[in-house]
Amino acid sequence: MDKQALWYVGGQWVHPDGAVISINDVAVLRGYSAFEALRTYNRRPFHLDKHLTRLYRSAELIELEIPWSRESLAAIIREVIERNTYKHAAIRILVTGGESEDSILPTRKPTLAVLITALGERDMERFAQGYRLITTRLQRTEPDAKTTNYVVAIRALKEAARRNASDALYVDEQGHVLEATRSNFFIFRGDTLITPGAGVLKGITRNVVLDLAMERFPIEERPILLDELALADEAFITSSSKEIMPVVQIDELKIGKGLPGRRTYELEQRFIEMIEQGDF
Ligand SMILES: Cc1ncc(COP(=O)(O)O)c(C=O)c1O
Repeated sequence: MDKQALWYVGGQWVHPDGAVISINDVAVLRGYSAFEALRTYNRRPFHLDKHLTRLYRSAELIELEIPWSRESLAAIIREVIERNTYKHAAIRILVTGGESEDSILPTRKPTLAVLITALGERDMERFAQGYRLITTRLQRTEPDAKTTNYVVAIRALKEAARRNASDALYVDEQGHVLEATRSNFFIFRGDTLITPGAGVLKGITRNVVLDLAMERFPIEERPILLDELALADEAFITSSSKEIMPVVQIDELKIGKGLPGRRTYELEQRFIEMIEQGDF
């Protein structure tokens, strides 16, 4: 851990080793809290406004009142970036439920924590290899809300690791493919880009990629049936930390030729150009 790192936790500036929240916080006891994860490029936050909008929306969906204004949250996040030295960084904004007297209903104010860790440069070798995914029938609850309840994600990732895959794709009871544990999911059928529009967390990266794709590819936001994966020419996932990551295999099924596809490469090029031009 970086000796100089400074995080903002419960109103204090602390080194991560000294960062504490109460054991009686319902975030710890019951998994009740909302959070955001965003990143910086060259010390600039990527779509901070959209992340803040989603944070307030997630909190509203779980009936957690955030007692800080948007402006004050944005100012703290900017200060976290300034106080640390990282060129590229991952930032987590956590709003806990707060302390409880009966261990379930919060009776105190939420705790706000803003954490920052360094990120490296984009790894094009990983991109060229692509990901192998498994499918899982485990289900997220409240898919539109970004909460710290990642119990099913951790179980699905453990299963993925046992099966030598990088991540897991949620498939619902109707057989619809939804999203990966921390990423959104897309397929190309020919030139048509398809991604689920419901039952998923609407990723900030997902929406940026749809904007980038719009003038080049027809887009369909609709359910994707598991059986349809056999007809996909390409697939990829998106997230703040992974950006665009090709998917080359799902369970035993090879996607297309089992390599990152040319349309996915084209989108990746557009994404990189946007970042390099600081166009965000
Ligand atoms: C369940 C889930 N879906 C999608 C995403 C991707 O969202 P974003 O692009 O905003 O990082 C995440 C990110 O953590 C997630 O947890």
